[in-house]
Amino acid sequence: MLPFCLEPGLEACVLYKDGKWLAFNRSCPHAGIDLLVGGDIEDLSELNAGVVVGCPAHTYLFDPVVGTCLWDASRGLPETPPLQTYEVSERCGQIWVKPRPLPKPVAKEDWDQARADALQLALVDKALARKFPD
Ligand code: FES
Repeated sequence: MLPFCLEPGLEACVLYKDGKWLAFNRSCPHAGIDLLVGGDIEDLSELNAGVVVGCPAHTYLFDPVVGTCLWDASRGLPETPPLQTYEVSERCGQIWVKPRPLPKPVAKEDWDQARADALQLALVDKALARKFPD
C-alpha cells in the first residue's frame, strides 16, 4: 500500500489487491476518519462484491473502485457521500492515478438492504477472523 498526497490536506492511497490496482481517498466521506488506520479492506467476491473498504469508526462500507457507499447506519438508502476513487494505470514503470467521476446516488428501487447488511456482516466477520484467528 502506498499513501500519496494530492494536495495539502488531501491524502489518498494506491494498493494492489487480488490482482487489481485500487486507489481512493484516505478520508472517510462520513466523518473524515482515516480509512487506513484500523480500517479493513476485504475481498467479498463470495457475495459478488469484490473488494470492499470498511471504515474503522462506524463500519460504513465503500466500493473502492467506483466509490459507492455500500452500507451506512441509516439502514436504508445511504445518505453518506461516495468515496473519491482513482483510475490507476502503469506507464513506463510508474503508477499514475486519475480521479474517477463520483458515482450517481443509488436509486431507491435499486437498493437492497438485505444485501447491504450481508456485506457489512461479512466484512466484520472477516476482519474479526483475521484479527483474532482462534
Ligand atoms: S467516519 Fe467512517 S463510517 Fe463514520
